[in-house]
Amino acid sequence: PAPGWTVTADVVVVGSGIAGLTVALRYTELSPEGRVLVVTKDVLSAGSTQWAQGGIAAVLDPDDTPAEHLRDTLLAGAGLCDEEAVRVLVTEGPDALKRLMEHGARFDRDADGELQLTREGGHRRNRIVHAGGDATGAEVQRALIEAAAHEPRIEVIEHALALDLLKDADGAACGVTLHVMGEGARDGVGAIRAGAVVLASGGMGQVYAATTNPVVSTGDGVALALRAGATVRDLEFVQFHPTVLWLGEGSTGQQPLVSEAVRGEGAVLVDAAGERFMAGVHELADLAPRDVVAKAIMRRMAETGADHVYLDARHFGAEKWQARFPTILAVCREHGIDPVTDLIPVAPAAHYASGGVRTDLRGRTTVPGLYACGEVACTGVHGANRLASNSLLEGLVFAERIASDLIAVRRPPRDPADDRADGLVDPRTRGRVQAFMSQGAGVLRSRGSLAAVRRALADARWTPVAVEPCTESWEATNLHTVATALTVAAGVREETRGSHWREDHPERRDDQWLRHIDLTLTEKGE
Ligand code: SIN
Repeated sequence: PAPGWTVTADVVVVGSGIAGLTVALRYTELSPEGRVLVVTKDVLSAGSTQWAQGGIAAVLDPDDTPAEHLRDTLLAGAGLCDEEAVRVLVTEGPDALKRLMEHGARFDRDADGELQLTREGGHRRNRIVHAGGDATGAEVQRALIEAAAHEPRIEVIEHALALDLLKDADGAACGVTLHVMGEGARDGVGAIRAGAVVLASGGMGQVYAATTNPVVSTGDGVALALRAGATVRDLEFVQFHPTVLWLGEGSTGQQPLVSEAVRGEGAVLVDAAGERFMAGVHELADLAPRDVVAKAIMRRMAETGADHVYLDARHFGAEKWQARFPTILAVCREHGIDPVTDLIPVAPAAHYASGGVRTDLRGRTTVPGLYACGEVACTGVHGANRLASNSLLEGLVFAERIASDLIAVRRPPRDPADDRADGLVDPRTRGRVQAFMSQGAGVLRSRGSLAAVRRALADARWTPVAVEPCTESWEATNLHTVATALTVAAGVREETRGSHWREDHPERRDDQWLRHIDLTLTEKGE
């Protein structure tokens, strides 16, 4: 549909989690006149940041060093991290975190007022700051929303789904089309005319039936970038969190996370017979990187015929549970499990897209004027498997770098040369896409299972009648687009590495696959 209205901004940021709001805040700090428009599909707090439990990894302990954080990140990334990007992350992280605290985020401190630091899988040091025990993301989101509300040069449009990138006559990004839901002068389809566009729209976990991601995480940014001709990288590396509360066969939608920090504080995994199974699998045992733990769980489930395993943290006692993990305690109890006296049933579920829209160290994508930041981006810091609690840090550090680059380049708002519209997917395919992906392109994959998913996705694309444009059909279209791209990438990589586990190619093949899989959409949309 043609845009019914147009508004102009220096910069438009798509998404309002840690990445998007940090870009907006930093840009207005660095540019005395600059105005940013933040558009977000739901309300400001609806994305994944809000749900982060574990925390933010940063070198703050005097005994820790950036070199050690770098080493742990590279090891988890299984040979595919961009070392320079990781160096940026671990060296600029502590200052970026301090600026987040200046914006009002309050993290847990000990009796002496020092930040409490915990550990998660793959970290050999205690370097994770947290807030409210296990409600880190909620505190970060609260602080950023409040800080943005105090900056009159940050304007916000909520309930606004970004549809497609607008480009000028030189092919550079100069805005987005938007579908705005609800009442008011901006209802319907409109356009933002801008100097540059920053995608900070989060992940794509909803491409699977079981995920920790909120229902808004439908891969909108990756799909938009693909349609705009940008390169996406390493989509096959979807991280499955090992310990997601198991709610019974067939439960879908957002699943409650049981943070790795629970194991960081001493919980252990046991099978249905009460036996520990991580010792001997990895030197870090229950605190091995999460791909190792997820695979060991899947293996144990296959051996015992069970559909979940258990976390045992009964020894924490009621007081520690309440003080350190109040959110997880409450969620478990809502589901009839008391972690103080019961084992917690858990199984792996989709958690984080380590790949995404390819960027350089300034957050630039392959389309001029288009930036990507946070989970939607592939900056190179995660490689084949993100290290726990590096994602909020990545959002902070690279958001600041993007803000600096926006100032350095300073493109004025421009008019678009074209506006494209593609066929939409029937919203009813959403559940089918999720089921296909979980069956054939989830934790375990093979050439046969991936080919079956691709066929099923191709069939599901066809509809007998034109689909009405609405949020549900655009989301279904985006999910279908990213599911297809992810399945293609997973089919190309014929090895097992990081979070990509090919049953038909169980070995890691450094001789052939120490490289990335880049994809772009062809003119025909394939
Ligand atoms: C967790 O708390 O286990 C999640 C942390 C993360 O995904 O980085």
